[in-house]
Amino acid sequence: MSPKKKSAYAVPKLKDFSATALDKEVVKLRAALEEESKAVSNEAEWKVFRDRWMARKDGLLTQINDLWLKAAPKEAKRDAGQCVNDLKEKVEQMVDATLDRILSGAPSKGRFVGRVKTRDFAFQPRTGAEFSGERVDITLPGIRRPLGAEHPVIKTMNEIVGVFRNLGYSVEEGPEIETDYYNFEALNFPPNHPARDTQDTLFLANQESKPLRERLLLRTHTSPVQIRTMEKMKPPVRVVCPGKVHRNDALDATHSPIFHQVEGLAVDANITFCDLKGTLDHAMKALFGSSVKTRFYPSFFPFTEPSADVQISCIFCGGRGYRDGGPCRNCKASGWIELLGCGMVDPNVYGFVDYDPKKVSGFAFGMGVERIAILKYGVDDIQLFFNGDVRFLGQFG
Ligand code: PHE
Repeated sequence: MSPKKKSAYAVPKLKDFSATALDKEVVKLRAALEEESKAVSNEAEWKVFRDRWMARKDGLLTQINDLWLKAAPKEAKRDAGQCVNDLKEKVEQMVDATLDRILSGAPSKGRFVGRVKTRDFAFQPRTGAEFSGERVDITLPGIRRPLGAEHPVIKTMNEIVGVFRNLGYSVEEGPEIETDYYNFEALNFPPNHPARDTQDTLFLANQESKPLRERLLLRTHTSPVQIRTMEKMKPPVRVVCPGKVHRNDALDATHSPIFHQVEGLAVDANITFCDLKGTLDHAMKALFGSSVKTRFYPSFFPFTEPSADVQISCIFCGGRGYRDGGPCRNCKASGWIELLGCGMVDPNVYGFVDYDPKKVSGFAFGMGVERIAILKYGVDDIQLFFNGDVRFLGQFG
């Protein structure tokens, strides 16, 4: 390419700015553009070509702008502007196409090489043949994106909550970072009472300057939500409270420092231990099948009196205690599996929430979600719920 040769195109000054005159000049300019583009055969030449046409300072486009648009009389501005804009686009395309051609070593076919710029297909309609190299093989299998699924713990938690919603319970939630007051004191664990030791509490650091009841800890159970609920609602109350809890337990196949519970609370006039038994017996049958039996075994919690642990007949050996000609490992040959804690709300608790223990009575229960999921799905290690291995989690999709 030799723009300096005798024939090198130069942008003329115009005397006549009419549309016809402009058209004539456009034809000349485009002929020059095309010719110069064809002459380009390597990258160095392409740069000279590009700068000659597009350099901001004194490039041909700039000259067109100055000589054809800026110089145009008012009445011709519109036409001149349109014409200059079209030319700008055309020049940019040609410069691009020229680079594509020398990079691909073939006549320009509008292939996308190197820079990707928008092209004006109205200027250069692409023909059918041009698309042949871009064919998509629609017989190939598509890309399948893995679908997410509910986590087995959340799934189980929702199922438990669902059983109680069907009985007319509503759902309440509370914070995972609790005060000593809600986690212990209002639940009738006096300061320094040994029952606190059973809770393996994780305390937040630097709380010593506060009064004991305001000190923060990670809630060890969902029972504080009982108190929060009774503080804001008058009886009758029927709520379930699902959520995450924390304990300072070393992790093994059956323990995790983080796990989930579903709490239940029913307070009304004349609620009895019978109601508690009937409700939980129904819930266990709904969760594990109508053939499971329940048994209430004396226990202790500071906030319930009397308290009980609920056992269900072993779902692995059908409550017989032996299986496959030997003792059942799952229930240690007892025929029973311990599942949750419960009891009648201790009258002392009502004192903390301004309920009158002479007028109301109620029951509460709390169950571990992972423990129920482990039994329902036959999982042998609680850690599987928290390791995030999709080979395990995918099975619950
Ligand atoms: N909060 C008790 C625990 O986590 C369980 C429980 C709840 C017991 C409600 C009785 C009533 O151990």
